[in-house]
Parts: sequence; structure tokens; C-alpha cells
Amino acid sequence: MTLHPDVEKVLISQEEIESKCKELAKKISEDYAGKIPIVIGLLKGAVPFMAELMKHITCSIQIDFLDVSSYDGVKSTGKVHIRRDIVTDVLNRDVLFVEDIIDTGLTLSEVMKEFKSRGARSIEVVTLVDKPEGRTVSDVTPKYIGYYIPNKFVVGFGLDYNEIYRNLPYIGILKRSVYEK
Ligand code: IMP
Repeated sequence: MTLHPDVEKVLISQEEIESKCKELAKKISEDYAGKIPIVIGLLKGAVPFMAELMKHITCSIQIDFLDVSSYDGVKSTGKVHIRRDIVTDVLNRDVLFVEDIIDTGLTLSEVMKEFKSRGARSIEVVTLVDKPEGRTVSDVTPKYIGYYIPNKFVVGFGLDYNEIYRNLPYIGILKRSVYEK
């Protein structure tokens, strides 16, 4: 595998991500056995993770996608707004949000408030990566977490910097020189 020249080092390899997805999907399948959760991916970052994860979920699921924005470059703006809503009715349904990464937690905190008010029966979160040091809200505790990582800006496997690098098959640390130019 060749390393992208803007990436300082690989933090989580493709193989590690794939085996973590199997492990997370096993737990999710057990917890939702007999139910049909709506698995909602947060666009665009969650797409590769959701695709890898759902292949290994064995219970019935429905899927949908939500597009919310809060980031500008490497900083959270603190404001969240829905750019594209889901099309499924969540009233009395079990909702599982799929996130690529949780940093401040602001995005999910706002999204979860909105979905509670829409009458979802249960709301849980699966995230591939968690940066707990960045957390500024206390009400976001993902039930399923792939990896904890330090407070560094990472790209790849769905994660972007100004919309680039989402297609890298691994998660890597972006060189500071790329965003301090
Ligand atoms: P939060 O609202 O601060 O938890 O941010 C969640 C969203 O911020 C994620 O879905 C990503 O889009 C983005 N984000 C947070 N940290 C990173 C990072 O290190 N690299 C790329 N995107 C990130």
C-alpha cells in the first residue's frame, strides 16, 4: 500500500477497520435481534464505514441517510443544520446512527434531540472513531465505538479535509503543513 503524500502516518489500517466492522456488527446483530432498526448514516463521512458494517449485520435493517453540517475545514462551527433529511418515519422505531467520528459531540447531540422529538423509540450511535478529549457536550455516549484516538485531525475511510481524502482505504493523520498553508 502506498501512503498518500499528505498523510503523516496510518493510524488505523484497512484490515483493522474491516475486522472491527465485523466485531461491531456482531454486537449490533445480537442487540437488535427480532427488531428492524433504521440504520441512519450521517453523510458523507459515514458512507464507507456504513457499507462495510452493514454487510456483517445479520438482523433485518432499513437504511437511510441524513446530511448535517457543522464543520468548516478543521474546526467545528458549533452550529448544526440539516441539509438533507431522511425519508423514513421514525415514530416508535429503533434508530441507530452511524457516524465516522465523534469529536465535540455537538453534531450528534443536536441530531439526537431532533430525533427524540420525532418520537423514535430508541436512539443509539455507532461510531468508527471517537476523540473523547474533544468532547464539549455530556449527553453523547455512543453505545458502539470502533476506536478511541487522540485529538489529532485524521482523514480517510470517509473522513475528509475540505472534502478531499474520503477515498483513502485507511485512517491516517493529516500532515499539519496541509492545513497550515
Ligand atoms: P463533532 O460534532 O465535533 O462531534 O464532529 C463530528 C463531525 O466532525 C464528523 O462527522 C466529521 O465530519 C467531523 N470531524 C471531526 N473530527 C474530524 C477529523 O479528525 N477529521 C475529519 N473530520 C472530522
